[in-house]
Amino acid sequence: MTTTQNDISKIYEENLKFWDEAWKRVSKPHKELPKLPYIHEITRKLKKYQVKKVLDLGCGSGWLSIFISKYGFDVTGIDIAKPAVELGKTWASEDNAKVNFLVGDLLNLPFKENSFDAVVCNSVLEHFRFDQAKVLFEKVHKILTEKGFLFACFDQVGSGKGEYFELSDSTHVYTDQMRQGMMLRNYSDNELKELLSNFDILSFDKNNYGSRLVWARKK
Ligand SMILES: C[S@@+](CC[C@H](N)C(=O)[O-])C[C@H]1O[C@@H](n2cnc3c(N)ncnc32)[C@H](O)[C@@H]1O
Repeated sequence: MTTTQNDISKIYEENLKFWDEAWKRVSKPHKELPKLPYIHEITRKLKKYQVKKVLDLGCGSGWLSIFISKYGFDVTGIDIAKPAVELGKTWASEDNAKVNFLVGDLLNLPFKENSFDAVVCNSVLEHFRFDQAKVLFEKVHKILTEKGFLFACFDQVGSGKGEYFELSDSTHVYTDQMRQGMMLRNYSDNELKELLSNFDILSFDKNNYGSRLVWARKK
């Protein structure tokens, strides 16, 4: 069966709906920081690079945005799921954190060129098809200031249980009840490097879970 452009658009819409529904099931901010060994490295590097304005792509309920903001950075967090952004706003107001939270699609970022000194993105890019990820990285390149920085964590995904069908670029589209509609794609190291062709890669590390942690600088 061939997949038409119309099917592809519908699949993407269903994927966005998945995120909205998933976040609707979360009733209050889960304020414990994830036990990710690299989170302090993020703020250390942002300081070292003298970053001021940071954009958190796919911020979810905002743990990373709020964490970074507490170090004095001017942070904007954006996510497609309104319920997630509302949780982030609640969390920020309860904890006196200053974050500009927005609802929006990463494929249609509402920012002008040269808007941010750094972009961070944790465990999000696996939810895009390869052609979409290319568009996103081009936009990220534009909205970064000259020699701006990018931090991204790309998880190793797609080997767990679940029913899905595959798009032509090997993106999985889940059909099981838990993840109905969610898109997930495992990126090879080479594909990640291709996405980053407009950036100088400063570091490219793999942790024990197979996640790739990348720091890059706009060329
Ligand atoms: C696995 S969660 C990661 C959330 C957060 N970055 C973290 O580290 O916990 C993926 C996030 O990406 C968001 N997302 C997925 N597709 C998106 C899109 N097209 N535009 C904006 N956000 C999106 C989801 O709503 C979800 O909050």
